[in-house]
Amino acid sequence: MSVSRRQFLKTSAVTASVPLVTTLSIDSSEARIGDAVDLSLGYKPGAIRMNLNENPLGPPPAAVAAAQSAIPATNRYVSPALLKSLMGEFHGMEKDWIIVGNGSTEILKSAPLAFARDSSKNVISARETWNVTPKYAGILGAKLKYVNFLRKQHYEFDIDGMLNAVDASTGIFFVVNPNNPTGAILSYEELKRIADSLPKEVLFIIDEAYAQYTPDARSGIDLLKAGYENVLVTRTFSKAWGLAALRCGYGVGHPDVLKKIAMHGCDAASLNIAGYSALQGTLSDQTHLDSSRQLARDISSFYKQEAKKLGLQVVAGSVPLPFILLELGKRTKEIQQELEKRNIFVRHVASWGLPEHVRISGGLEEDNRAFFRELKTLL
Ligand SMILES: Cc1ncc(COP(=O)(O)O)c(C=O)c1O
Repeated sequence: MSVSRRQFLKTSAVTASVPLVTTLSIDSSEARIGDAVDLSLGYKPGAIRMNLNENPLGPPPAAVAAAQSAIPATNRYVSPALLKSLMGEFHGMEKDWIIVGNGSTEILKSAPLAFARDSSKNVISARETWNVTPKYAGILGAKLKYVNFLRKQHYEFDIDGMLNAVDASTGIFFVVNPNNPTGAILSYEELKRIADSLPKEVLFIIDEAYAQYTPDARSGIDLLKAGYENVLVTRTFSKAWGLAALRCGYGVGHPDVLKKIAMHGCDAASLNIAGYSALQGTLSDQTHLDSSRQLARDISSFYKQEAKKLGLQVVAGSVPLPFILLELGKRTKEIQQELEKRNIFVRHVASWGLPEHVRISGGLEEDNRAFFRELKTLL
């Protein structure tokens, strides 16, 4: 494994320009409250946190500097229009094609309120997936139609199965691409085939939380540019960019679609000044993304190699992602709990239809080695 945190911090010097925020003169010696903040977030000292797909490299240093510089202006609300313009420019779209979320989760939870809000509607989704949208649609009363992945060489989306499930009551067709946790990927041609097959009233949601790991692939945003108006793409700064706690996500879609969603949440009160400032400081800086991608490659090859030595099966797609799905069989829950007692946290993904798997959000070299060291003693 080649990327360690120290190395990463050394190589990613603060290069991006930090936005200017006029600061008030606050005497920092009076701001003692900061010392009392417990950043362990409830974990015991030394915890190896590989359960939430957080970026173990940390945030880009430029983002930290920019976020800090914004804190003195925290008494002000931030207009979402700023992020809409910033991301619109980034993607070559008008700003009214962007919706801002307090993390992409807010958009993915708000969409069912507009498109699948009761039992008259159904939602189509793959089963073995990060399922916030179907889950919340289900809470609202919508019917859920989960379609299992095909288990060929890799897990593959059952596109025909999912399209066959569409009927006159379908409100949302949901995919995570690349998929968390199986790593399955839909190509642009496959996305287009789905978009071509769906009735215009069905909202085709493409959750692209891990899109930065497939930088050369055409995405759902290209579908929008090609004129498909019933597509909503969600993106986040939580993963490859390493800014999960700043809660910055956005969606790209047709303005009429976004207006319907924004009636229920997002946009108006979903942006904070530290997050907005951090994004300005990082968008132009590719260093962190390159390191995140390198880490994903390292993680992917290390886990495959170590799992093979133990005779275990890794589920992965064709592109290295920063998480791994590992089959542990009937004792999966017990093994996950034993690891937890040893202060190593991974996710048992039974609720996503994978009772015999854990998803490991790959860590830094020492964390990954600790995982296998302990796992070996539990098999
Ligand atoms: C596929 C997927 N979408 C969205 C999210 C949530 O992202 P955010 O932090 O932007 O709410 C996650 C987080 O694990 C995820 O895996």
